[in-house]
Amino acid sequence: MSKPGNYEAVKADLLKLMHLPGYDDGHIGPILVRLAWHHAGTYDKETGTGGSSGAGMRYEKEGGDPANAGLQHARKFLEPVKEKHSWISYSDLWTMAGCVAIQSMGGPFIKWEPGRTDFTDDTKIPPRGRLPNAALGSEHLRQIFYRMGFNDQEIVALSGAHNLGRCHPDRSGFSGPWVNTPTKFSNSYFKVLRNMEWKPKKWDGPLQYADEDDKLMMLPTDIALIKDEEFIKWVDIYAKDQQRFFQDFSNVFAKLMELGVRRDGQDPTGEGKDKNKTPEQSKEGDVPLAAAQKPLTTAQKPLTTAQKPLTTQAETARSKL
Ligand code: HEM
Repeated sequence: MSKPGNYEAVKADLLKLMHLPGYDDGHIGPILVRLAWHHAGTYDKETGTGGSSGAGMRYEKEGGDPANAGLQHARKFLEPVKEKHSWISYSDLWTMAGCVAIQSMGGPFIKWEPGRTDFTDDTKIPPRGRLPNAALGSEHLRQIFYRMGFNDQEIVALSGAHNLGRCHPDRSGFSGPWVNTPTKFSNSYFKVLRNMEWKPKKWDGPLQYADEDDKLMMLPTDIALIKDEEFIKWVDIYAKDQQRFFQDFSNVFAKLMELGVRRDGQDPTGEGKDKNKTPEQSKEGDVPLAAAQKPLTTAQKPLTTAQKPLTTQAETARSKL
């Protein structure tokens, strides 16, 4: 058990977890990024509901949503860290893990601040159906992401996270990785999306697109980014300029992690200020207010080389999924 508020210690333990030989491509980073995103992506700016507080996926109502299939593995991976640092809220842990994962895979540093609180029951969990449906197109993407408060450029930048990880037939029904290096964060996704020829995959599964060798894949929502005249402009910019992509992704992912977060006396999103807030909500959770309000310094710093080698220690103890 670390000292409450020692986020640096949490980060160090998260880094030790990342490499996991035998699981997918040998790294749990991609699924941690998906956990952080699905946690935050329920936000509705009109009602101020959903978002990255609450850790609602601990309850069947949100955790059992088919849109979240597979994320139980991510939550299980993080359980030893929660046990060791029991003072941290699940919602802080999940969001922090996503940010640390991106950095550990060579991505940009993401500004992250603590202070999220966890629901004590499932009554404030928003209805299902707020996450994007991969089978649909650009109109759907705009509906979903505008609802969270994002614009076209931000939708494309966020989609660049599909540079990481893969689709699993037993989770979403789709299959395969988007790029050849799914545990290295880069702008490859935009390059392959733009420069390769994508044809409907010949198989029994749902419509997805395949490259000529049928090694890489794109979802219908990924293809929508090159069929839409506004989105494609940003795909081109990010395909040509990785630095610009990293900068924009860092900003937009930090924004995503702040959606719906209410810290006592402040609403960092500037949206839905204190909407629906009850005295009961102010008391939710287990993060001491002083720790929640304390600005993070060290834990927010980019990784040092000393932190980079990700040891294999403790990995043998973790089960292969
Ligand atoms: C634009 C709308 C989006 C759709 C329709 C979508 C859909 C999907 C689907 C179907 C999967 C495969 C899940 C599985 O079978 O395991 C997936 C994986 C993933 N998504 Fe998205 N996604 C979207 C946006 C995002 C965003 C905004 C992020 C993060 C910023 C993200 C990050 C990821 C990651 C990292 C994975 C790989 C997970 C793994 O390897 O286990 N996605 N997404």
